[in-house]
Amino acid sequence: MKTRAAILHGIGQQWSVEEIELDPPGPGEVLVKTAYAGLCHSDEHLVTGDMVPPEELLAQLPTGSIFPIIGGHEGSGVVVEVGANVTKVAVGDHVSCSFVPACGSCPPCAEGRQNLCDLGARTFGGGMITDGTYRTHAADGTNLGKLAQLGTFSEHMTLAQESVIKVEPDIPLDVVCLVSCGVATGYGSAVNRADVRPGDTVVVVGCGGIGMNAVQGAAAAGASNVIAVDPIEFKRETAMVFGATHTATSMQDAVALVNDITWGRMAHAVILTPGVLTGDMVQPAMDLTAKGGTVVATAVAPMAQQDVKLDLARLTLSQKELRGTIFGSASPNFRIPELLMMYRQGKLKLDELITRRYSLDEINQGYADMNAGINIRGLIEFN
Ligand SMILES: NC(=O)c1ccc[n+]([C@@H]2O[C@H](COP(=O)([O-])OP(=O)(O)OC[C@H]3O[C@@H](n4cnc5c(N)ncnc54)[C@H](O)[C@@H]3O)[C@@H](O)[C@H]2O)c1
Ligand SMILES: [Zn+2]
Ligand SMILES: [Zn+2]
Repeated sequence: MKTRAAILHGIGQQWSVEEIELDPPGPGEVLVKTAYAGLCHSDEHLVTGDMVPPEELLAQLPTGSIFPIIGGHEGSGVVVEVGANVTKVAVGDHVSCSFVPACGSCPPCAEGRQNLCDLGARTFGGGMITDGTYRTHAADGTNLGKLAQLGTFSEHMTLAQESVIKVEPDIPLDVVCLVSCGVATGYGSAVNRADVRPGDTVVVVGCGGIGMNAVQGAAAAGASNVIAVDPIEFKRETAMVFGATHTATSMQDAVALVNDITWGRMAHAVILTPGVLTGDMVQPAMDLTAKGGTVVATAVAPMAQQDVKLDLARLTLSQKELRGTIFGSASPNFRIPELLMMYRQGKLKLDELITRRYSLDEINQGYADMNAGINIRGLIEFN
């Protein structure tokens, strides 16, 4: 069938909305009519080149490049067709996309860590995880990769059943979209990876779509103090709505504040969720962290970056931890329905995360708005 998708042809280019050819679902695959796609910062990392793998890794790909690629890894929709042997969902089901496909049987999945599923290795395109071939082709026949095996910037998607999670049909599909990356990642960064406990002091650095949910996760876990750090006033003000107790414009500005409100103990956890992580942000985060505390690196750093500023002696002697996380260290098949249950019970704010809605053709405006700092989350709304 013909459908329309936003494609990135190379670093530094704009998203190009084009008509593409989409093949029907093969065995183990489903066709989804997309309802919403979220404008997460991770797609922007492809545009800037920050998250494009280095040459030596690209050389291992069959095509030698991740481009052209359909963007989008946060999304929701309705299943309109299923291929053979599909057991997970049926036609008519509402689904959230999972940016890490979760097979359920590889060693990490079997251990209950579906966010580390071995199928996640094909994040930057390549053929389907089902059989390695492509369902997405440009008008000239070129195969199109799909970010995170999803490519939610597309009116329709042919996906492996491992990439979708059935949700309750009465929950609005815009909020179903949000939990598929930003909410789950931010919330889990606090609740799972930072292991926030009642009474803790937590600093969240960068309050966009991900960080706002780290704020709300820390508050939900019972933190006494949640310090939201962002240079943009609108983000700091919004963070107070999501459960922040204090704000600061920078990590440096937060030092005296955190020292004061913790009676000198400093923070149990510092969660790094700026748009781009850089190696020089790690030591300032460590400086905000108490003895025995944890710094969680949720934001993505440029892939070429190898250097981190870190006082190793104090890491050792103060028994601190630096932890990475993908998908908030949660299992998508478990966490996505759970977050939507919390939303239905009024225990999680999701509607308040949506700042602006765009058509697919307005995608570049959406990213310009994200970069201008005027959105908590922008959404592409499909018909
Ligand atoms: N680990 C994962 O699984 C995962 C999943 C999704 C997104 N991410 C990453 O999380 C990061 C955040 O994504 P997002 O969609 O929320 O981005 P965003 O652009 O919506 O928000 C980033 C926020 O950080 C603020 N900021 C920038 N520099 C700062 C600094 N030095 N100090 C404090 N605040 C600063 C900005 O003002 C903005 O409010 C990105 O790097 C993204 O790629 C990681
Ligand atoms: Zn994302
Ligand atoms: Zn798996």
